[in-house]
Amino acid sequence: MTTPPQQLHIPVLLSDVLALLNPGNGERYLDLTAGYGGHARRIIDRIGGAKYAALCDRDDYAIDHLADLAEHGATLIHQDYLSATRQLIDDEQTFDMILLDLGVSSPQLDQGDRGFSFSHDGPLDMRMDRRQTLTAADVVNRYSEDKLIDIFRNYGEINIGIARALARMIVLRRRKQRFDSTNDLAEAIRIKIGELDHGKYHKVHPATQAFQALRIEVNDELGQLQRTLPLLSRLLNHGGRLAIITFHSLEDRIVKDFLRDRSDGLDAPYTLLTKKPIAGNINDDSNPRARSAKLRAVCKK
Ligand SMILES: C[S@@+](CC[C@H](N)C(=O)[O-])C[C@H]1O[C@@H](n2cnc3c(N)ncnc32)[C@H](O)[C@@H]1O
Repeated sequence: MTTPPQQLHIPVLLSDVLALLNPGNGERYLDLTAGYGGHARRIIDRIGGAKYAALCDRDDYAIDHLADLAEHGATLIHQDYLSATRQLIDDEQTFDMILLDLGVSSPQLDQGDRGFSFSHDGPLDMRMDRRQTLTAADVVNRYSEDKLIDIFRNYGEINIGIARALARMIVLRRRKQRFDSTNDLAEAIRIKIGELDHGKYHKVHPATQAFQALRIEVNDELGQLQRTLPLLSRLLNHGGRLAIITFHSLEDRIVKDFLRDRSDGLDAPYTLLTKKPIAGNINDDSNPRARSAKLRAVCKK
């Protein structure tokens, strides 16, 4: 049994993922967002060994926590999943199951120095891959006002009036003083939004959507997904299963449209395994991330 040294991240929709991927002894598994191996460890138990698994993550902290699986024969790939997919295609590798569990891990949110969250003060960083140069501080302190408006609109789904006001506030404030910390930016956003809606009570912090938008931009999250999805059928054997977990509507729309288009008609490469997405448990207090999760899956014909 492959168990992690400590559970840093609780895998979401684990039993549904196992039911859909339906791992068989000796089958090959590719986890493109392996994180702390929550899903991978259970799948590895079913396929009969880590040697049948390739585990990718762009975060060095996650990769370090998969070392025990590497010792048992798993292949670790410290890359973004688009580059990993291209490399595996070039190497003519194929798999029976592929999992994409998108978004951030609990350690990324919980460790202040990663700069993803305003619940823990830290530098405005938000890089999943710390070898990358672009940080959230670069976006906030250097991007043009128009580009900031686009990011807040398109990646935060913030209404245009508020997106414009936030971008203006950032541009004016940074002339005097750069934004360097998550709390500093979150507080400036909270004050600005409070002025606009006369201090209306918000169930979630008003900066939540702006932080989501910045994170998506820094990590090119939607671009990675859009460019990777069309490549995955080349890595799957016939009868191979692909499962994807999303955490917000922008990702889910991309996945839903893609899987529907590729599962429709006689020439389509896939059969849909989930007519409707399987939703995470909205009452799961032990794992709040699960509340917004949606799982979709297909099988290659
Ligand atoms: C939700 S966590 C995955 C958790 C994992 N399934 C588990 O049970 O431990 C998402 C992981 O995907 C990684 N990730 C997100 N986007 C990525 C990308 N484009 N390429 C590679 N890894 C990515 C993050 O660094 C994070 O560790």
